[in-house]
Amino acid sequence: MKKTILVTGGTGYIGSHTCVELIQAGYDVVILDNLYNSSKAVLKRIETITGVLPKFYETDILDAEGLDQVFSENHLDAVIHFAGYKAVGESVSKPLTYYQNNIAGSLNLYETMKRHQVYNLVFSSSATVYGDPASVPIREDFLLGPTTNPYGTSKLYNEQILRDLSKAEPEFSIVLLRYFNPIGAHHSGLIGEVPNGIPNNLLPYIAQVAIGKRDYLSVFGSDYSTPDGTGVRDYIHVVDLALGHIKAIEYAFGRKGIDAVNLGTGHGYSVLQIKDAFQKACGKKIAFKIVDRRPGDIAECYADTTKAKEVLGWSAKYDIDTMCQDSWRFQSQNPDGIND
Ligand code: NAD
Ligand code: UD1
Repeated sequence: MKKTILVTGGTGYIGSHTCVELIQAGYDVVILDNLYNSSKAVLKRIETITGVLPKFYETDILDAEGLDQVFSENHLDAVIHFAGYKAVGESVSKPLTYYQNNIAGSLNLYETMKRHQVYNLVFSSSATVYGDPASVPIREDFLLGPTTNPYGTSKLYNEQILRDLSKAEPEFSIVLLRYFNPIGAHHSGLIGEVPNGIPNNLLPYIAQVAIGKRDYLSVFGSDYSTPDGTGVRDYIHVVDLALGHIKAIEYAFGRKGIDAVNLGTGHGYSVLQIKDAFQKACGKKIAFKIVDRRPGDIAECYADTTKAKEVLGWSAKYDIDTMCQDSWRFQSQNPDGIND
């Protein structure tokens, strides 16, 4: 029998790509999203790619009754939980809003899962839980925290809450996926990342310079102890990341307990290397200026991918040129986002 997966935050950036891969892997998908940071038009795009229009609930995870309705009306086998706020800077100025949405909302979801005996969960965590790592590549057994902002802390707390839940309720099977830096878009150019306002993250910012919405890229620091002095990150294609979720769901179905797995490529690229790769992909010069370091940034962050290979049988396959080409295709085909 086909298994049904509830995807919270399923019209968002990573959620929409994961829904496409779930449908293509033969799962039924139910999406729950309050459309705070995404558009209903994404559903049609998913249908265009897969031939299937997913069932959709415009529901907030803070609404316990609404959640209960979704669980009552569907026979769910598992949940992939993407819904949450993710802007680091905003989390510093609005900590209560972030804790309310990312913690209280998640507690509602876990409580509802328990009541309806839906025990399989994949949670969107982040490499940010490692804080400033002692060394790279980062392994899953490295010390966690301290985090430098409420967004990161909300991920760390969710992980701890889920570890406690797993201890108390051994029926649960939970996979914590710690994403590195997701970029790129579906090869069709139909779905991708639509930043809200001025982008905080590197790739969306570069893409907006390329289409002429921004004048130049500010490179945050060139005096790090990295090969060219700019920050190094592990950029991963969002489709690879989505495929990692399919493996994580299969892993969850075959076991009980809780486990944490990095999703990255294991390769680090500097800001200037990314700028160059994007220039190649879009055929335009990206103007840039070196400015001061961004507070809270670390020099280098990339994953040890051994565990993902061993326990999930997954590794990333797309290279940095493909990531930039796919980002550019989405950006140039959808200069004003996904609104139709
Ligand atoms: P996104 O903002 O595109 O998607 C999140 C979705 O959740 C949005 O569609 C939004 O409308 C929805 N949402 C937010 N609050 C909600 C609520 N209370 N109820 C229902 N829906 C709600 O973000 P994304 O980049 O796709 O990230 C997905 C998840 O992955 C988030 O939890 C994020 O913290 C985590 N993550 C993202 C990155 C990244 O770089 N994008 C890195 C690490 C972890
Ligand atoms: C950011 C988040 C982190 C989250 C991660 C995953 C911050 C402080 N951290 O990390 O919590 O888990 O995304 O998506 O936002 N850069 C520039 N100019 C820019 C933007 C970025 O030089 O305009 C540099 C940064 O200094 C960094 C690199 O590009 O070296 C990547 O930055 P970004 O895309 O914001 O990701 P992270 O800082 O890794």
